[in-house]
Amino acid sequence: MTSSGAVDKWGFETFAQVLEEGSGLIGEPAIVDGITGPSITQNGRTLTNLASINLLNMHQRTDLRQCFAEGAHQYGLTTGGSRMTQGVCRAHLELEHDVSQATGKERALSFATGLLANVGFVHAMSQDIDLGAGVRMNNSDSVFVLDRDSHWSLWKAVEGLGYGKRVFFFRHNDPDHLDRVLTKVGGGGKVVVVMESVYSADGTMGPIPALLDLCEKHNAISFVDDANGFMIYGPAHRPFATEYQHMRERADFVMMSFSKAVGLEGGAIAGPTAAVQSFELLSGTSMFTAAMQPPTAVTAREIIRRLSRDPEIVDSYLAKVTAFRRRLADIGCETSETSTYIVSVPVNDDDIAVELRQAFLDHGYLVPVFVYPAVKRNKALLRLIISDGHTEDQLDGFLSTLATLKEQFKF
Ligand SMILES: Cc1ncc(COP(=O)(O)O)c(C=O)c1O
Repeated sequence: MTSSGAVDKWGFETFAQVLEEGSGLIGEPAIVDGITGPSITQNGRTLTNLASINLLNMHQRTDLRQCFAEGAHQYGLTTGGSRMTQGVCRAHLELEHDVSQATGKERALSFATGLLANVGFVHAMSQDIDLGAGVRMNNSDSVFVLDRDSHWSLWKAVEGLGYGKRVFFFRHNDPDHLDRVLTKVGGGGKVVVVMESVYSADGTMGPIPALLDLCEKHNAISFVDDANGFMIYGPAHRPFATEYQHMRERADFVMMSFSKAVGLEGGAIAGPTAAVQSFELLSGTSMFTAAMQPPTAVTAREIIRRLSRDPEIVDSYLAKVTAFRRRLADIGCETSETSTYIVSVPVNDDDIAVELRQAFLDHGYLVPVFVYPAVKRNKALLRLIISDGHTEDQLDGFLSTLATLKEQFKF
């Protein structure tokens, strides 16, 4: 006996039993060995991996691993304490400087993950925080209006604020609905509109310029979660340059994750100097938890610099995505209406989706299948992210398997 009997009434025994036996998509996670990327070794079996969010596969480059090792050598493996108690590690400051430049914002603050950046932002913008010594910020009158498909971290962060009181949603990517909600909420107080650039489930690009117009019309602050688009979109020759130009020039705050294109771990918020500076104290998720590890900060900065210096890395990746989308269309797969690198293929039927996942595994492909509650019931989809490291053979094999399974399962 290792715990008090009081734990029993929570029902973990039954829940864990269900996990162990496996049911639908829910089961004990496979054990992964080696380095994840275009391939993955799960339970001793190597599969082609379409589930990795590390799309550019930068972490497999020898020189970047060397950069990580040098960062570890220079700064050690950990900050060992918060900014408030110890001070700010130079590696983080340098990363934040480059992030603010990349986003066109005045200042940036890094967090251990993107999720913590989101939670910290909402906390800072919603609480009455009194830190003593005359340091107080009262945001207990603020209101949040979120795109309904916003990431879990954003919904979790606003959870305690009271839906219908300080929290409202607008229909996914629907400016007309946002206009109506903002009219109802009123622009007299502190209002924050939360939107994303690239949505991670359906892969759509948000109508950023139209949403920013409405923020200005209703005198609301804009917050764009750019976790998925950071360092992929932005330059004038790439898709969605207009959205990114507006984001750069007009969004108040932009959040990014370093677990996607950068391919490491961590996150940041960029925005006006005074606000971002205040987030060190007000977010809670900067002061009361660990930071990014210093070698990660050093390597994230190097990857951001590399991607800016050598646009061909992302350009050739996006060309690969375009070819992949074209080939999906050739086999009759409908995909999301905006052509980002996140490709969602509707399956709809939840039961078929569960069977499909196993069928892909049987053929040697790890494919993320989103079913309820990640998406609405019977709106299941395959969420495909190809890796820059996938070989032609891997993609050919995947597409012909998809064509076969599409025929077999009639989706
Ligand atoms: C839109 C969005 N926001 C936030 C996050 C959280 O980022 P991180 O993985 O860095 O915590 C994710 C990651 O899945 C995301 O897709």
